[in-house]
Amino acid sequence: MKGIILTGGKGTRLHPASKAINKGLLPVYDKPMIYYPLSTLMLSGIKDILIISTPEDIGRFSDLLGDGSSLGIKLEYNVQKKPRGIADCFIIGEKFIDNQDICLILGDNIFYGNHFGHILRETVAEVQKDRNSIIFGYNVQDPERFGVVEFDNMMNVLSIEEKPLKPKSNYAAVGLYYYPNSVVDIAKKIQPSSRGEIEITSLNQEYLYQNKLKVKLLGRGHTWVDTGTHDSLVDASLFVRTIEQRQGLKIACPEEVAYRMNFIDGKKLEDISKKYDNSYGEYLMRILNDKL
Ligand code: DAU
Repeated sequence: MKGIILTGGKGTRLHPASKAINKGLLPVYDKPMIYYPLSTLMLSGIKDILIISTPEDIGRFSDLLGDGSSLGIKLEYNVQKKPRGIADCFIIGEKFIDNQDICLILGDNIFYGNHFGHILRETVAEVQKDRNSIIFGYNVQDPERFGVVEFDNMMNVLSIEEKPLKPKSNYAAVGLYYYPNSVVDIAKKIQPSSRGEIEITSLNQEYLYQNKLKVKLLGRGHTWVDTGTHDSLVDASLFVRTIEQRQGLKIACPEEVAYRMNFIDGKKLEDISKKYDNSYGEYLMRILNDKL
């Protein structure tokens, strides 16, 4: 399975904070926002990743992350000229996806929780075996801000709607989606919504119609933040700071994930740590020496 990080859009909700710099490059406490979705893909065991952003911003992402070889992964870059909708990324990424299954994560989605990596790797294996698409639901107070999933008593999915005025449940569809290769053909057939976007929710509705949509729930032991507003961006930073200071362990440090996933060895981690003359580098050395 390959992965896509979508981090384009106009980002106007966060202007002027994100006027001169893409939101995905803004810090969430101690690291750029894109480190979080990148780490989530790596924890899924995905090593081939396409980053899609605007023509103005894409070069800044490649300046930051390069070709991925230092993390033992392969990074490619592509542009979305206009924010035509989230599902557009599968059309832009058609060549990259090739004959593989694909995981999409939105650049502003941050996850944290026990056994999360295990759940993700299990999900990849399920898609590869059963050929269904798998998305995740999360209980929120303000479902009208998101895609909303409705279930019956047996937790079968009944409907999924994008930002409904009257949500049928409190379960938001998070910005992390695992699809079989058929997603490219389905994305090409989606008609733009009333707001002119090729909606990810329309794509999920098509899988639901075909009886090929599974929704897993992330429970109370998991944290999901979409950093789409000033408040949620600050909340995310404070959350990361709280956990990191308490535990002395970092959330979404891609170098650490690469080491723990055996994408890189200890020597490479040490080399990276030497490039940082600060606490980030010291942390990487601690990972290595203290066997944390
Ligand atoms: O965060 C989860 C939610 O993400 C889901 O519950 C919704 O179903 C889904 O539509 C999406 O809603 P948002 O309102 O958060 O989408 P937004 O327009 O903010 O876009 C999410 C990210 O994707 C953001 O970083 C910008 C980027 N994006 C978006 C569009 C529409 C693009 O790069 N290109 C686009 O064309």
